[in-house]
This record gives sequence, structure tokens and C-alpha cells, in this order.
Amino acid sequence: MYSAATLRTDELTAEERTVYETLKPDRMPQHVAIIMDGNGRWAGHRSLKRFFGHQQGANSVQLVTETASRIGLPWLTLYAFSVENNLRRPRAEVNFLMRLLKSYLESNLQRMMDNNVRMKYIGHTHKLPAEVQEKMRWAEEATAGNTGTTLTLALNYSGRSELVDAFRGLAAEMQQKHLSAEHITEEDIHRHLYTAHMPDPDLLIRTSGEMRLSTCLLWQIAYTEIFFTERLWPDFRGIHLLEAIAEFQLRERRYGGLSEDCGEMEEG
Ligand code: FPP
Repeated sequence: MYSAATLRTDELTAEERTVYETLKPDRMPQHVAIIMDGNGRWAGHRSLKRFFGHQQGANSVQLVTETASRIGLPWLTLYAFSVENNLRRPRAEVNFLMRLLKSYLESNLQRMMDNNVRMKYIGHTHKLPAEVQEKMRWAEEATAGNTGTTLTLALNYSGRSELVDAFRGLAAEMQQKHLSAEHITEEDIHRHLYTAHMPDPDLLIRTSGEMRLSTCLLWQIAYTEIFFTERLWPDFRGIHLLEAIAEFQLRERRYGGLSEDCGEMEEG
């Protein structure tokens, strides 16, 4: 939940504050997830190699996280690297992304501490290079006591493999408890997801004009509001997060029910 203790809106830029002041405090999202896309195109438009796009993308990660922490957003999840990226991108690019992640963690840990950000990860992170895993653990442990935004990086993540893992975990539990399949509830599946400790995202943002979900948090986004923007991730800043939240606040969330101003339906 938002708490006055984690609000640092005096640190927003003047431009950000203008948008922030239009937001309704009682309709703030608790969890925002972002599919960061367009690093390669950003570099291509400048006749630069894709690597530069990823480097600029890492800068956006930090700036957006800091704005999220200033407005007291409890949960921010960034889809950084998918199982498919790992399998289908050239090795040189995957290796670069791994080195970038490691150096990103090293060089931004102090800023995470200054911004009271707690770091977590989801995905098959045990398959990442050992030295990257070590740096990830280091950053997670160092920030574990922070009480502001929880930044979750989805790394070597796929929503489908998350569901497979959840079903395997649940099947093992059912077997151990001698329970049959009809006992399975939605809550049981939720308990076995990587995200069991956090609320489902209220808002999912995808940058770069692509209108796909790319297996991002498939179970969790059932009632999530989706915001697509043409902006490429390296150009995405805190102000754009605030603009997406402003748009989110205009949406009517019905969860399959009726809108408040929907007239009564006569029976018979
Ligand atoms: C999508 O752009 C982005 C990625 C596959 C990697 C995301 C990585 C970063 C944002 C930087 C590093 C992250 C951290 C956490 C330090 P793309 O390469 O698919 O772009 P394109 O569709 O334009 O080719």
C-alpha cells in the first residue's frame, strides 16, 4: 500500500510534478509492470549498434525506478530478459546483456539504497551465468531491508514456464497431501506463482508500439489495464510512467461486472 513514509514527491522534476498533481491519490496503481521494448530500434534510428540501445535502456530502468520510488509505488516489475531472448538472440547480444545487467547492478546499488528500493527477481535465474547470479544475490541482499518500491526484474522469464513450474509445484503438494484435482482453486495456483508475494499488476505498459503480451505474467494480468505506447524504451522516462498512470485512472475497471452508471435491467 502507498504510505506517506515512502512518498518523496518533492524530488520529482517540475514537469513530473505537474502530471503527478493531476493524479487521484485514491486511484493509484499498487503494481505496474512494464514490457521494455525498442532498444534495438532506438539504436538503429541513430545508426548505432543494438548494444547502445540496451545501454540507454538500462539508464531508463534506473530513471523510471527512481520516479516510481518517489511517488511511493509499492511494486514495479520490469520484463528485462525472456527465455525466448536467451534462446533466440545471437550469443554476442545475450552475453552483452548479461555483462550489462552485472555492471548495472554494481553501479546502481547505491542509487537503489538512496531511493529505498528493494530488489527481487523472477524467472529461471538459476540458468544465468554464475557471476551474474552472484551479483544479483548481492544486490537483493543489500536492498532487502529497504521499505519503498519493490523492483522485480523478470530475467530469463516466460509466463508459460512460470505456469508449468506452478502446476508442477501444486501437483507435488497435492500428491503429498493425498488430494485429488477437484480440490484445486485459483488461490492454489496463485500460491505457486513466482509472484505469490505480490498483488497482480493493475497496469501493464508495453513500449515501442508492439501490441503483444509476449508471455508477460500471463495468469496475473487477467484484469490488468494495458497501456501501449509508441515510445521506444530508451526514450521512456518517469514522466511517461506518470502519464500512463493518468490514463489508467481514466479507465473503468469492471472485473467482469457492470459499470456504475449502467441502468437497472427490468426482470421479466
Ligand atoms: C527489448 O528491446 C529489450 C530487451 C530484450 C532487453 C531489455 C534490456 C534492457 C532494458 C537493458 C538492461 C536491463 C537491465 C535491467 C539493466 P529489443 O532489443 O527487442 O528492441 P527491438 O525490438 O527494437 O529490436
